[in-house]
Amino acid sequence: MNYFIAANWKLNKTIAETREFLHKFIPEVQQVTGVDIVIAPPFTSLTAAGEEIKDTNIQLAAQDIFWEEKGAYTGEVSPLMLLETGCRYAIIGHSERRQYFSEDDVVVNRKIRAAEKAGLGVIFCVGESLEDRESGKTFDVIRREVEMGLAEVDSVNLVLAYEPIWAIGTGKTATAGQAQEVHAYIRKILANLYGNKAENIRILYGGSVTPENVDSLMACHDVNGALVGGASLKPESFAKIVCFKKEN
Ligand code: PGA
Repeated sequence: MNYFIAANWKLNKTIAETREFLHKFIPEVQQVTGVDIVIAPPFTSLTAAGEEIKDTNIQLAAQDIFWEEKGAYTGEVSPLMLLETGCRYAIIGHSERRQYFSEDDVVVNRKIRAAEKAGLGVIFCVGESLEDRESGKTFDVIRREVEMGLAEVDSVNLVLAYEPIWAIGTGKTATAGQAQEVHAYIRKILANLYGNKAENIRILYGGSVTPENVDSLMACHDVNGALVGGASLKPESFAKIVCFKKEN
């Protein structure tokens, strides 16, 4: 099973900046094997990014989708529209969507089902807040988010991302032990839902991943990749993360 390392650029990079990044990044990672490399630029840069990464080992993801195929939904973008730009994945359920755009588990589930129906892969994010962790609710929150998000969803083309909210953009990373503990728990929930197929679902860690801490996180048994925000904005830094040192 390949590792899966994705860049989540959030609200960053114009089309020109996207092209500039890729011109530097592609040569740095073109020899990399054993890692699925994915970038998620803003919607406006998807087409340009799709052109730049054609015939490379890099794949494209959107940062969000809407669940309807078309209609009177001002401002929204459908899975089919994203597939047309060359997207293979969509990030769904990111904590910033949940926090700033009031997306709840029901909305997240609708989006995941729409992506699945359209044949778009899903990078499904879950994670607890600091308050949840401090009050001992981490596992309850993770269970609720995973089970509700995946209601009536097949496991096909699904990637999970565990992103503790307190670690996102804060410079505070979960320790390898904290990450492994939650990843193993997520793997157990997935096994209940999907049986043996759960072993093939990659579970990414996200939250202040950097070139300095990536090796120890990736060495955890149930950590199969990373979702990277801040440290993915510079080509040198994201290339270093993609080229992390594998054990043995
Ligand atoms: P960060 O963001 O790497 O800047 O913490 C990760 C994410 O939100 O996906």
